[in-house]
This record gives sequence, structure tokens and C-alpha cells, in this order.
Amino acid sequence: MEKPGIGIIISTTREGRFGDVPARWILDIASGREDLDFEVVDLRDYPLPLLGETGSSEQNDASESGAEQRWKQKMAGLDGYLFITAEYNHSVPGALKNALDHAYPEFNKKPAAFAGYGGVGGARAVEQLRLICIELQMAPTRTAVHIGMEPLIGVKKEGSDLSDFDFLNESAEATLDELTWWTHTLKAGRAEEAKAAEPAGAMG
Ligand SMILES: Cc1cc2nc3c(=O)[nH]c(=O)nc-3n(C[C@H](O)[C@H](O)[C@H](O)COP(=O)(O)O)c2cc1C
Repeated sequence: MEKPGIGIIISTTREGRFGDVPARWILDIASGREDLDFEVVDLRDYPLPLLGETGSSEQNDASESGAEQRWKQKMAGLDGYLFITAEYNHSVPGALKNALDHAYPEFNKKPAAFAGYGGVGGARAVEQLRLICIELQMAPTRTAVHIGMEPLIGVKKEGSDLSDFDFLNESAEATLDELTWWTHTLKAGRAEEAKAAEPAGAMG
């Protein structure tokens, strides 16, 4: 059976962003796991218009741009998400909120885990992101990675690597453990639900 797929989502798009660093680090750790497939999904590759400038998130509108259609297809094909998020003004980056607003059923009944970075480890953005994920009918994990001042300064100014920080490696493993449980559990639940919805006689 095909392994469930997790998107490691880089949520900032500005030039010179830090987001690539935690994405690469966590992909490296995640790649050592055998029961899930991981891929980086970069918002830069989906230049979404502000919602409402073209179609609606609830329709597959012909007016939707290619990026909008590709984004929904990509989200639909994944079984879970690991959001790598900065904290912008104590919340999630606008590009991420806009991208989340662009899809809905694609996210339903799937798990979301988090790696935040910023002065307090992106904690305020991650808390807000959990609430947004609940509204999108995702299951947000309790465990998350928080990359705070010490590792940020270490990487930006002292030539350190995120993997040099044991507490970060440990929290990444714990977050992936929880994400793995929810991914398998919810995938099985979605499959059961789809089977139950099949018309009588369609069963083999
Ligand atoms: C618009 C803006 C708002 C920010 N607000 C916060 C904030 O509220 N808390 C925080 O810890 N860092 C804040 N920062 C600093 C970011 O944590 C830091 O610039 C980080 O590298 C941003 O992620 P990025 O490089 O991937 O864009 C802010 C940065 C920007 C550009």
C-alpha cells in the first residue's frame, strides 16, 4: 500500500527568508522515517492571488488561476501537513493565511503539525494556526517545534546548524511521532467513511 504523504509547507515567500532553513532540517529528520513520505511544498511555487480576486474557494471555477488549481490539487493529494511558520506581528504570515483560505474540503479530516520560528519560537503564530486548522476541520497536533532566539542567532550569526540543537531534534521527533499517529488514524477513518458512502452493490 502507498505510504501516506505529508507536505512540509514553507509559509513565507519574501526574499531572503529564513523558512528554507527549518524546512531543510526537518525534511532531513523526516526522511529517516519509513512509514510516511515527505515532500517540501513551497508557497513561492503557488503564486496565489488574494482570495476573491478570481474564483471562490468553494467552486472549481474556470476563472481560477493555474496556481489556485495546482494548490488545491496538491493539498487534496496530501494526507497531512507540517507547517513551517514564521511569526508576523504575532500571527501567521499573510501568504499562509491566504493559501489556507483558498482550500477547504482538501484539508478536512487531516492532521496538521507545526514548526514555528521567531522571538518566542513562533509560539503565538502556531497557536493561531491551530485555531485556523480547527476551522478547516484539520486535527492540529499538541506537540510542535519552536525555534527561538538561541538557535535563530546561532544559525543567522554564528554558523550553527539547527541539527546542532538537541532540544530541537528531540521536539522534531516528538512532533513527527504525533503526526504519524494522526496521519494513519485519520487516513483509515477517511477510507472507512468513503467505503460506507459507496452505493450498495458497488462493493466487491
Ligand atoms: C512583517 C514582519 C513581522 C514580524 N513580526 C514578528 C513577531 O511578531 N514576532 C517575532 O518573533 N518575529 C517577528 N518578525 C521577525 C521574524 O521572526 C523574522 O524576520 C523571520 O526571519 C521571518 O521569517 P522569514 O525570514 O521566513 O520571512 C517579523 C518579521 C516581519 C517581516
